[in-house]
Amino acid sequence: MKILAVETSCDETAAAVVRDGRHMLSNVVASQVEEHKLYGGVVPEIASRRHAEIISDVVRQALSDANTPVSDIDALAVTHAPGLIGSLLVGVNFQKGLALSTGLPLIPVHHLRSHIAANYLVTKPEQPLLTPPFLCLVVSGGHSHIVNVRDYTSFAVLGRTRDDAVGECYDKVARTMGMPYPGGYHLDSHAASGNADAFKLPRPHVEGSLYDFSFSGLKTAVINLIHNASQKGESINYNDLSASFQQTAVNMLVENTLRAAKDIKAKTIALAGGVSANSALRSRMVQECRRLGINLYFPPIELCGDNAAMVGAQAYYEFQNGNISGLNLNAYATMEID
Ligand code: KG4
Ligand code: ZN
Repeated sequence: MKILAVETSCDETAAAVVRDGRHMLSNVVASQVEEHKLYGGVVPEIASRRHAEIISDVVRQALSDANTPVSDIDALAVTHAPGLIGSLLVGVNFQKGLALSTGLPLIPVHHLRSHIAANYLVTKPEQPLLTPPFLCLVVSGGHSHIVNVRDYTSFAVLGRTRDDAVGECYDKVARTMGMPYPGGYHLDSHAASGNADAFKLPRPHVEGSLYDFSFSGLKTAVINLIHNASQKGESINYNDLSASFQQTAVNMLVENTLRAAKDIKAKTIALAGGVSANSALRSRMVQECRRLGINLYFPPIELCGDNAAMVGAQAYYEFQNGNISGLNLNAYATMEID
């Protein structure tokens, strides 16, 4: 079954053709990052306008790269929630138009479900294909969740952030250090040559849940440290500060995930979302999972951030489960994964 998928939840306009949820036939991502960089973050009005301008070309390219005419497509998929509402609506309306003109079924896909499904596209000779059940740490610019993936379309959130998402925290800290948007990648690179023990940073304590996170205290502590130093005319080694921040954030992510894995006796853990590209998170998880005998999956770097191949992967399983929408499909800025 070939699915043509579209993703426009934030600032990437993306389209892909995916066969049977596992084989990526094409994956086109047009990023708007250069434009949003000027403003230090995504400007929603600009994002939706750019999606509208470029979406037809991106979809045409995805079909052409996959060597697949629309007549060979079996279903259409689109991210319908959560995300920037104006951006989501561009993808949703485009796919509704295509569904109307072709008569193909339309499959709505939850953005975080699709990030998890990026792991279904992993084909490493040394690893069997990932199948549920497994535990997934979903970390992006908007979310930080520990999810029990019971089946392809059955999820339970075990832990989540009480305030900022970890990606948002990375981006704000990086911006304060003068790094370009989105700062996660740049902070990660600076951290590689820093001393992670140079700064003692607070680890916010979260009452009432073993698995929830809180990142805003850490973010504020780092930003205050930078502002105080600049007021006193002191200089800070940003590599050391990046490494110390990264170590604290990654410790929180890894410890809570492993605690949840132990409690539910998970044999397999997957990482997903933009922050799953983080080098420290990956290497800590590789080490810990090897020690504990847990199978670990993470997507290749190009499938960690927003893309449509992951939407096509998840859509295949949503379709099997009968999750098909009418032409009255709407977009939603917020929606729970479960
Ligand atoms: O999943 P994603 O592409 O978009 C959302 O759904 O939010 O995630 C984007 C986030 C941004 O905050 C970005 O800075 C972060 O992922 N990110 C990273 C790295 N690469 C991307 N954060 C830490 N380390 C990285 N290497
Ligand atoms: Zn995302």
